[in-house]
Amino acid sequence: MKALVLSGGAGTRMRPLTHTTAKQLVPVANKPVLFYGLEAIAEAGITEVGIIVGETAEEIQEAVGDGSKFGLDVTYIPQEKPLGLAHAVLISREFLGDEDFVMYLGDNFIVGGITDLIDNFVRDRPDAQILLTHVNDPSAFGIAELNDAGDIVSVEEKSRWPKSNLAIVGVYLFTSAVHEAVRSIAPSPRGELEITHAIQWLIDERRNVRSTTVSGYWKDTGNVVDMLEVNRSVLETLEPRIEGDIDEESQIIGRVLIEEGARVRRSRVVGPAIIGRGTVVSDSYIGAYTSVSEYCHIENSEIEFSIVLRDSSIKGVGRIEASLIGRSVMVTPAPAVPHAHRLLLGDHSKVQISS
Ligand code: TTP
Repeated sequence: MKALVLSGGAGTRMRPLTHTTAKQLVPVANKPVLFYGLEAIAEAGITEVGIIVGETAEEIQEAVGDGSKFGLDVTYIPQEKPLGLAHAVLISREFLGDEDFVMYLGDNFIVGGITDLIDNFVRDRPDAQILLTHVNDPSAFGIAELNDAGDIVSVEEKSRWPKSNLAIVGVYLFTSAVHEAVRSIAPSPRGELEITHAIQWLIDERRNVRSTTVSGYWKDTGNVVDMLEVNRSVLETLEPRIEGDIDEESQIIGRVLIEEGARVRRSRVVGPAIIGRGTVVSDSYIGAYTSVSEYCHIENSEIEFSIVLRDSSIKGVGRIEASLIGRSVMVTPAPAVPHAHRLLLGDHSKVQISS
């Protein structure tokens, strides 16, 4: 059994962050979301992993290396453009050979790992197995329609009129039967080779395509709201530890991890929260569900339910909530007169101002 991890893509929903950062490397509790997937693959006993990379290939390769730190043997498979999930399978034929494989979307977060799933697949060996989960907004997902017996009748890409509320989770299990499927389909109107079309092809050919419906299991971290939500749920399980330096005037409450070299001065940190290596927090409040990465400066500010990436400064700006702040960002107060906001924002930035 091999694994194919998809870490190319455009990441349009996470702009402007994805102009400069691979979305699969945005940290959840200070660890790239992709690493959780690679760890789950290693835990399931798979060692041979192909990683599809696009424009951000260099950054992904720098972060993952040869995979040995995860106990994996990684092969990088460049994809010239994000031409679809089935296109990723198509270009991986040589790496995959005729082996069964799990296809894992690199920006997806699966709670509880994939070991049981893989074990079940290896035991029953259907031609393909997909995971489904109930969602409230089915038009945002690929959807499967089941009959009364629970067999898959059809799968479809994002649709304005979805036939069910069963979304397809970003982990797929395939035998080599999928290779004929991805060769047989044509690009969709959005110009991509869709994995749903390949699965539909298998269904139409009366191949054995199974589904398992799971609950509370999965998040696609493709947008900011979901990213904050995954961060929240991972922080809930954080092992509290103080490795950094806290002065006597500071208070640390609840599940908090202060990494080595971090300093907290005259501040209050209420967990679950994580403060990264070398970060300095002074005269501030860090509230629940907040991850601050390495080498940040938080001064005279309050921040809650947010993710701050490395090397950023937040100084004297009151309260920040539900925010995702990129690398080397500076958030500071404007001069008192004139009373105006002064902004230098990259393309596709989103700012909500509360005054
Ligand atoms: P998506 O989130 O479906 O696509 P995207 O990355 O282009 O993002 P957006 O919709 O915001 O523009 O992709 C799911 C995962 O698969 C993600 O980790 C990127 C990866 N991917 C590839 O590696 N190659 C591809 O051709 C596509 C479409 C996605």
